[in-house]
Amino acid sequence: MSDYQTHEHDVLVIGAGGAGLRAAIEAAKDGQSVGLVCKSLLGKAHTVMAEGGMAAAMANVDDRDGWETHFADTMRGGQYVNNWRMAELHAQEAPARVRELEAWGAVFDRTKDGRILQRNFGGHRYPRLAHVGDRTGLEMIRTLQDHGIPQGIDVYMEHTVVDLLKDGDRVSGAFGYDREKGRFRVFKAKAIVLATGGIGRAYKVTSNSWEYTGDGHALAYDAGAELTDMAYVQFHPTGMVWPPSVAGILVTEGVRGEGGILKNNEGRRFMFDDVPDLYKHQTASDPEEGWRYVTGDKSACRPPELLTRDHVARCIVREVKEGRGSPHGGVFLDIAWIREKLSDSEAHIKKKLPSMYHQFKELAGIDITKEPMEVGPTVHYVMGGIFVDGDSQMSTVPGLFAAGECAAGLHGANRLGGNSLSDLVVFGKRAGEYAAKYARENGDVRVDEAEVEAAAAAALAPFDRDGESPYAVQGDLKEMMQELVGIVRRQDELEQAVERLQELKVRAAKTKCDVNREYNPGWHTALDLKNLLVVSEAIARSAEVRKESRGGHFRDDYPAKDEKFGKVRHVITKGADGSMQLEERALPAIPEPLKKIIEENQKA
Ligand code: FUM
Repeated sequence: MSDYQTHEHDVLVIGAGGAGLRAAIEAAKDGQSVGLVCKSLLGKAHTVMAEGGMAAAMANVDDRDGWETHFADTMRGGQYVNNWRMAELHAQEAPARVRELEAWGAVFDRTKDGRILQRNFGGHRYPRLAHVGDRTGLEMIRTLQDHGIPQGIDVYMEHTVVDLLKDGDRVSGAFGYDREKGRFRVFKAKAIVLATGGIGRAYKVTSNSWEYTGDGHALAYDAGAELTDMAYVQFHPTGMVWPPSVAGILVTEGVRGEGGILKNNEGRRFMFDDVPDLYKHQTASDPEEGWRYVTGDKSACRPPELLTRDHVARCIVREVKEGRGSPHGGVFLDIAWIREKLSDSEAHIKKKLPSMYHQFKELAGIDITKEPMEVGPTVHYVMGGIFVDGDSQMSTVPGLFAAGECAAGLHGANRLGGNSLSDLVVFGKRAGEYAAKYARENGDVRVDEAEVEAAAAAALAPFDRDGESPYAVQGDLKEMMQELVGIVRRQDELEQAVERLQELKVRAAKTKCDVNREYNPGWHTALDLKNLLVVSEAIARSAEVRKESRGGHFRDDYPAKDEKFGKVRHVITKGADGSMQLEERALPAIPEPLKKIIEENQKA
């Protein structure tokens, strides 16, 4: 019999970023006992890395904005394969969630007349991102913690969950360990909310922090839930490319929102070269018009640097591939140029982009008020994830909910910048509310001892094996994903990736670690590998069958969108024999009133 401690809650939330904290607050408000498990220390979730702001149609800066335009922008950005209900709810509820954060103490930047300031971001028709300089995620987490933790939420810091437990079809708890001492824990719960974030650590170059190993995706998959849309991985166009030790770190889109321009090594603003038809009528035709837009001229169209991320990232790849890149394999992002327009440009940049100023000064020795930055695409976000009901956020497993990046649907094939922070609080709240309701309305659960024993045995297996180091397998996986399932994909490479993944799975199943359970990162990595392999295979298989290009999924061999694929989503489940199954399902039709909103906004 394994040795473990049991904790019992009505609702267990796994992940303490924006979505997890917001879910925990809502479930606690309902009177449920809530446990909150986080992989790192409380306050260090990846949400703190979100910089530019949270999108909400508050119309504080441009009174033409409204939820309908935000909805239409989100659908257009997602190439119309979004879960329309989630896009509708998100656009409608985001302003209330921003105001709620303000009421709970978030100190947003202000307009001259004292309202919450909103900035421009790619794909958003109007200035829409409520922000706190370029540290918005940090302020969100501080606010949610200050407000939520005193409500009596039990926090389990530096704990990793490795398995979900079931009582029949229904989820009944989670099995995990504390990362410091390696002691086992059983969390018995009537409802569980997964809010574990993304998968970026499956790739070599990513803006994601170390926790992002696809844990929630894999836990849900193993528990029998459906994953969907896994082909859609977002490469943020601007990550640092130099020095190598910091490659991939995010350079906020806020830089472009504040007037930053992209140039190649010929000094040309290459983004003017290729503007997609969907956005032609909304895009500035020359630099002067772009600058007028940035400074608030409502008659001007936005600069091409603020096209959607998928497009900007591919334009950068093209420049580099065709020999017009920067010395370290990126392109130039220049905000210093605004000194031609503003006499106080240095102070302005430092005020609007304080973290970027320090990041480049400290890490690259670059003063962004005087010199351009070198930037290139970095894996930033996965649009695919756990399939959930749009209203309640419940997955296909009863009692198992998901919110934030690990849930799929809202963003379709490509997420607009700023829609992530608002996603976290809109759907975090909903997940918490419905998980609490589920816990209240469905009786107690039973934890199956045999299931716990099996989970413990699987967790201890790396100590008894005699294979290679988990780091070697992890390194090879990242290289392979970057090379074969990256920003530009091809049939032969995707097939090769699926084959290579089978080899990597065999190697991962043999990885060994040192004997001591205390402070053992090798052990943690061996356990994380299982999750990374699940999400990598789901991405590669989904990308292979989607023989078209759409949003974050670009196929060199099928460079156009195919209407047929615009009507379907791909679903990944675990088969009875443990193998990964893929199925194609029809997308539900968008209701007429929402279609009308989309059509009207397409013309605008
Ligand atoms: O560029 C950024 O600040 C990232 C924001 C986002 O991904 O929403």
